[in-house]
Amino acid sequence: MNVQIRPFRTDDYPGIVEVFNAAYPDYPGSVEEMRYYDEHRDPNTQFERFVAERDGQMVGTSIYWQAPWMFHPRKFFFELAVRPEHQGQSIGSALYDRLMAELQPFDPLVVRNGNVREDMARGLHFLRDRGFEEEMRGWESRLDVAAFVPTPYAAVEAAVRAQGIEIRTLRELEGDADRNRLLHALHMELEADVPQPEPFTPVSFDLWAEHTVNSPNLLPDAFLVAVHGGDYVGISHMWSSLASPDLQTGLTAIKRDYRRRGIALALKLRGIAYAKARGIATIRTWNESNNRPMLAINERLGYRKQPVWITFAKVLKDET
Ligand SMILES: CC(C)(COP(=O)(O)OP(=O)(O)OC[C@H]1O[C@@H](n2cnc3c(N)ncnc32)[C@H](O)[C@@H]1OP(=O)(O)O)[C@@H](O)C(=O)NCCC(=O)NCCS
Repeated sequence: MNVQIRPFRTDDYPGIVEVFNAAYPDYPGSVEEMRYYDEHRDPNTQFERFVAERDGQMVGTSIYWQAPWMFHPRKFFFELAVRPEHQGQSIGSALYDRLMAELQPFDPLVVRNGNVREDMARGLHFLRDRGFEEEMRGWESRLDVAAFVPTPYAAVEAAVRAQGIEIRTLRELEGDADRNRLLHALHMELEADVPQPEPFTPVSFDLWAEHTVNSPNLLPDAFLVAVHGGDYVGISHMWSSLASPDLQTGLTAIKRDYRRRGIALALKLRGIAYAKARGIATIRTWNESNNRPMLAINERLGYRKQPVWITFAKVLKDET
């Protein structure tokens, strides 16, 4: 097999996006987004991309990276994709072996992968054969926006307003000079309650801003904030993928003292109304499989579960 694994060059972005899009056709990405998020990674985290070439053609790609929202200097994620017509020819194994060798200088404790769905038999085998064990599950759910009937929920937003809580879009909050600072603080407080495999580590204001309010995926009219007096008490935002017509859901979360008052439901309904008004066919969302409160809301609204995504982990060394 004449396959070479080499480090990434900046002119590889189109090829890498093509490989990922071929391997995950239901989750298309764009060069612009991949480049943007690479250029705006947390400088305190490690990441590196590799490509596999056969006869000058890119046939596979991989990346190791660290998550700023659960940062540990010796814990890593990786992603790996091989063009479907080149799968089953040890290219994935070669990319994986290279990644693991490149990680050795960091003396890694845990390596994770969250890019395999329960219906992706080859990916499941690949990870299990290499000693990875299942750690977490998360459903992607999709709402058929045209089929959604808002009538049963007509009173929800008024009930929230009666508690002195207003729903504002990011655009409507432009006049608030403190907006971004308040949103960053709120986001960090709420994100700590979202299930993830490691303890939450807050991200800096600048990084948060680059990934939300300044990102190429921002939809300022679909970024919804629940406001009580001058306080921001909840959030639900959707963003657009540049390569897909579907709307994607970011964080939906409410401050602890404000939960079970219908605020999240009201925010989600506003988001659905936004999508309906623009003729958007599908809203996608991701929820950890034990997150009953969030799943309960999405189930009630008619979101349909897709095959579950599984996070796998391989423990290389004990932490002690
Ligand atoms: C999930 C979350 C946003 C819900 O916010 P909320 O404002 O409390 O939800 P609502 O009051 O609008 O709930 C509407 C309905 O959802 C369901 N629901 C909400 N919380 C629930 C819970 N703890 N258990 C079961 N059902 C629940 C109920 O059907 C509820 O209606 P009811 O109160 O009349 O019974 C909130 O629990 C939260 O911030 N969790 C932490 C962050 C998080 O995990 N976000 C999701 C990331 S994917």
